[in-house]
This record gives sequence, C-alpha cells and structure tokens, in this order.
Amino acid sequence: MRNLNQDNITQAVLARLADTPDPRLHEILTSLVQHLHAFAREVKLTEAEWFQGIQYLTATGQMCDDKRQEFILLSDVLGLSMLTIAMNNGKPDGCTEATVFGPFYVEGAPEYAHGDDVANGAAGEPCDVYATVRGLDGEPVANAVVDVWQADEGGHYDVQKAGLGHAENRGRLRTAADGSLHFRSVLAEAYPIPVDGPVGDLLRATRRHPWRPAHLHFKIEAPGYEHLITHVFREGDQWLDSDAVFAVRQSLVAPWKQQENGRWRLDFDFVLNPLKQPA
Ligand code: BEZ
Ligand code: FE
Repeated sequence: MRNLNQDNITQAVLARLADTPDPRLHEILTSLVQHLHAFAREVKLTEAEWFQGIQYLTATGQMCDDKRQEFILLSDVLGLSMLTIAMNNGKPDGCTEATVFGPFYVEGAPEYAHGDDVANGAAGEPCDVYATVRGLDGEPVANAVVDVWQADEGGHYDVQKAGLGHAENRGRLRTAADGSLHFRSVLAEAYPIPVDGPVGDLLRATRRHPWRPAHLHFKIEAPGYEHLITHVFREGDQWLDSDAVFAVRQSLVAPWKQQENGRWRLDFDFVLNPLKQPA
C-alpha cells in the first residue's frame, strides 16, 4: 500500500491489525487507532504539537521509578483511573464503594495488633480508628486482611520522606471474630498530589489545584469476598467537591469526631460483596 493519505490511512492501519490472534488485543488496538486518528483529525494536530506530546510522554516516563509512577498519576488527574474503577466495580446497593488505589501503597507493610499505633512516629494529632468488616448479609467477616495507609499532618506518606528507613502511617491488621478492627493513628489531613513532574505542569497549565481531601486508604481481602480498595474521606474537608483525582464517593465520607480526651475518632463499617458461587 503506497501513497496513503489522510482519508485512507486509518483503514490501512486497521487492516494491518487484522491478523492479531488475541481477539481482545485486536479489539483494544483497533479502537485505540480509531480514537487516536479521530482525535488528531478533530484538533487538527500540528507536527509541533505532536512532538510536544511525545516530549511530554517521554518526560512522564523519565519521572517513573520504583517509588514514583507518574503515568498512574497522569491517568488519575485525567479521570481515567476513576472511570476504569467505576466501570469495573459495580456492586449491589449496600456494599462499600471502591475508589482509586493511588501511588503510595507499599507491599509488606508491618503487621499490627488491635490497639497498636500504626503512625509509628508520624507527626499528627492522635486518632483512634474503629471499623467493622461485614458481608452484604450482615455477617461479620473474621480474619479479613486489612491494609491501611495515610499521609501525616504535613500531607506526606512515608515513602515520600527520603531516607526514613521505616514504615510510618501504614500497617496490616486482621479483623477479630466479630469483624471488628481497631488501631491508633494520626488525624488524616488534605494534601497536594506531587506536582514536581509533568503532571504538575499539566495542572498549572490548566489552572487546576493539586489537592486531595483528607482520607485514609484501605485495602481489604477476605476469602469468599471481592477485594476492596477504597478510602474513607473526612467529612467537612474543603476539597471534597474538587478532588484532584475525582475519587470522592459520598458513601465514603465520614465524620472524624474529637473526643473528650482530645483524641480524634473515626468509626466506619465496611461491607464486602460476596464472590459469586459457581452455578
Ligand atoms: C493517594 O490518595 O494516595 C493518591 C491517589 C491518586 C494520586 C495521588 C495520590
Ligand atoms: Fe492518599
């Protein structure tokens, strides 16, 4: 095929994909090419703009390492992460909704017992978290593996602190026989997503703020139930309606209450979706 022009090049590329053996890969690549070409036509992409895009994606890749995933951050601020989560996590009413994973989860967090302080030295106002994990039928889920992680009062996760050398504000606990869970921590505070890379450039160029409303991250796994990756957001936070990564669900917003002893307290009940039994 020679002398392709702007009217027939899309079809030529699609024809070249026709022998892709994996049907799902074929479907995805076909749609990607169609949308990419349609996008270029719609905005009448210039060569300079095409090259700027290439440079932007190159810089995004160069910002990635084992601690920083700038491509996920880009997906987050473009709403692609939350769209994908919304499309893939439809659950019956009553189940706790899922939201973004974020880049700050770390495998192998320290194991804690109920009542332990997962802050482990992180700065912040002291806080008690009481939670339960149940199935949709209300049955307590015993021995669920619950990972929790959060930022400190300065809005930083431990992995963002160079040379820290130990885990702060993250841990793994297991629910008791009655599905309950209790740990100590620090008050969750709002924080800006990292803006020292290409995602920050994009936010500045579009006059967008980088803030996420205060939240706690949870990852909950229990046999017989769908895994749940979610947050609990702090009621009253000024960024709830303009989260930089579009992740707020009203059902995940809860009050942190200050107790008479001055400590903060959060109570939250998680409801897991049972896995479908094979027929
Ligand atoms: C987070 O909540 O940790 C997070 C999520 C998306 C982007 C940046 C941070
Ligand atoms: Fe977070």
